[in-house]
Amino acid sequence: MNQDELKTLVGQAALQYVVPGQIVGVGTGSTVNKFIDALASIKDQIKGAVSSSEASTVRLKALGIPVFDSNDVSELAVYIDGADEINHLGHMVKGGGAALTREKIVAAQSKMFVCIADESKLVNVLGVFPLPVEVIPMASARIMAQFAQMGGQAQIRMKDGAPLVTDNGQQIIDVKGLKISDPVAFETQVSQWPGVVTVGVFAHQKAQICLLGTSDGVKTLKF
Ligand code: 5RP
Repeated sequence: MNQDELKTLVGQAALQYVVPGQIVGVGTGSTVNKFIDALASIKDQIKGAVSSSEASTVRLKALGIPVFDSNDVSELAVYIDGADEINHLGHMVKGGGAALTREKIVAAQSKMFVCIADESKLVNVLGVFPLPVEVIPMASARIMAQFAQMGGQAQIRMKDGAPLVTDNGQQIIDVKGLKISDPVAFETQVSQWPGVVTVGVFAHQKAQICLLGTSDGVKTLKF
């Protein structure tokens, strides 16, 4: 099975965690797109979704799935999202699709995080995938210097020759060369730096379940 087929497999498998009659939290990315497509097949059984990005909102609405403002929903039973990396404790690196801030917000309002990923995303130590960090532009140089002191090499994410602008009007820096051996401590520390909007380590908002697409089928990891 190729990577795209593995994503389809886990996107469909995630339907088992959607609670009938409720609103589901929906992440962002190519794996989540497969989930959204599958969700359309049971759209009459749910109230709708809280979305973590403009891109997912567009896809959900195009398929006839109502999208609710996160402020209008007190708690979600489940949030379904992909990851760039996940370790054996359910800690993740996210933000490859630049949606990390809203993803962390929806994850925080959800009782359970179900991560859907193909097996290439499972790692022992986070940090091989360049770490995305959403920042206030006027702080980017200072934040990049702080990462350099930790041994990381940071650069501003570009799109069409200019810094990428997130759904929140901010920028993303991607940091290579980090070895994140204590994700909880790392997330706590970097989140406190002035100008950091969101660090792409999801350790406080970790996954409880990971549906991992493998050549032998979907493996369920519980954390
Ligand atoms: C977007 C994300 C995605 O979940 C992550 O990048 C994985 O994406 P994909 O399913 O396309 O591999 O964090 O901000």
